[in-house]
Amino acid sequence: MKKIMVVGGAGYIGSHCSRILADRGYEVVVVDNLSTGHRKALDPRATFYEGDIRDFAFLDRVFKKEKVDAVVHFAAKSLVGVSMKEPIDYFDNNVNGTLVLLKAMVANEVKKIVFSSSAAVYGEQKVLPITEEAIPNPECTYGETKLQMEKMMKWADIAYGVRYVSLRYFNVAGALDNGEIGEDHNPETHLIPLILQVPLKKRPQISIFGDDYPTPDGTCIRDYIHVVDLIDAHIKALEYLFAGNKSDIFNLGSENGFSVKEMIQSAEKVVGQAIPQEVVSRRPGDPAILIASSKKAQEILHWKPRYTLDQMIETAYKFHKSHLNGYEDK
Ligand code: UFG
Repeated sequence: MKKIMVVGGAGYIGSHCSRILADRGYEVVVVDNLSTGHRKALDPRATFYEGDIRDFAFLDRVFKKEKVDAVVHFAAKSLVGVSMKEPIDYFDNNVNGTLVLLKAMVANEVKKIVFSSSAAVYGEQKVLPITEEAIPNPECTYGETKLQMEKMMKWADIAYGVRYVSLRYFNVAGALDNGEIGEDHNPETHLIPLILQVPLKKRPQISIFGDDYPTPDGTCIRDYIHVVDLIDAHIKALEYLFAGNKSDIFNLGSENGFSVKEMIQSAEKVVGQAIPQEVVSRRPGDPAILIASSKKAQEILHWKPRYTLDQMIETAYKFHKSHLNGYEDK
C-alpha cells in the first residue's frame, strides 16, 4: 500500500484526512508544528514528526527516512481577518513554507501533491456558481497566499514534473461520525461551531454579521461541505495522480447555498431548541454569496458529496458536546 505524508495532520481537516487514509489502508506519516494543530487529534496509527515545513533539514530527514509516495498539504494559517493584519507572517508561513516543502519534495523525488486551496482565491465573483474558469481575484491576504502556492506548484510541475491537484474548498464543516475528532480553533471564527456554542451554554447568543446583503433574507450565503466528503475528494485526487493523470484544479462544494439565518434555523432543528440571535454590523471582507460549481470534480474525480446540512450540524454537535473545551477536555 502507498505511504502518504499528511502535512498539517494535527489540524481540523488534516486529522480527518489521516484517519480516513489509515481506515482505507494507506500508511500515514504526519508532519505538523502543532502551532494550531492538536496532539490529541493525531491518528495513533500514523507516524508523527513534530517540526516546521520552513525547516528544509527537518523535512529532508523525514523524506529520506519515510520514502513517501505522495504528500497531502494542509499546513497553513487560515484566518482571513488575521491575514489582513499580519500579511508578512501569512506569506512566510504559507508561501515560504510551501516553497521549502516543494524544495524538499524535489530533492527527494517525491512528485505528487494534493493541496488544500480555498474559495478565498476567487474573491467576489459576478458569475455564480463559481467555476474553475473564473479568474482568481483574492480580496484577502489569506486567499492571495493560497493563489501564490498554487502558482508555485504550476511552475514546479513544468520544471520538475511535480504533479499536483489543488482543491479549492468552500465552507468546510462537520466531524467524524463517532465524535472522536472535530473542529477546535482558538479563537473560533467559523459560523457552525459558534452557533453550537449557544445551546452548549458557552455564549448567550449568535451574532449575525449583517442582514442588509443583496440576498433573499439579507444574510450572507455560503456553500457548506462536510469534512468527510472533502477528504473523500482528497483520496480520489491521490488516486487520480497515482493513475498518472495531469495536474489540475478543482472546486469542492455542495452547489447549495445557505444563508446565515437558514444555518441558525437548521441548528435549532438539530439541537431541538431556540437559538437566540442578534444582528450586528457586517464583518469586513465578507462577500454576499459564495457557491461553488463542483461539476469538474464530479466528472473528472468521480466525486459526489453525500452529507446533508443537518448531518454537518449533527456531527459537529456530537464533537462539541463531548469536547466542551475542545481537545483540552480529554
Ligand atoms: N458569520 C456570522 N456570525 C458569526 C460567524 C460568521 O454571521 O459569528 C457569517 C459570516 O459573516 C459569513 C458566514 O457566517 O457570512 C460564514 O462565516 P465563516 O467564518 O464560518 O466562513 P467564511 O465564509 O468567512 O470563511 C470560509 C473559510 C475560510 C475561507 C473563506 C473563503 O472558513 O477559510 O471561506 O471566503 F477563506
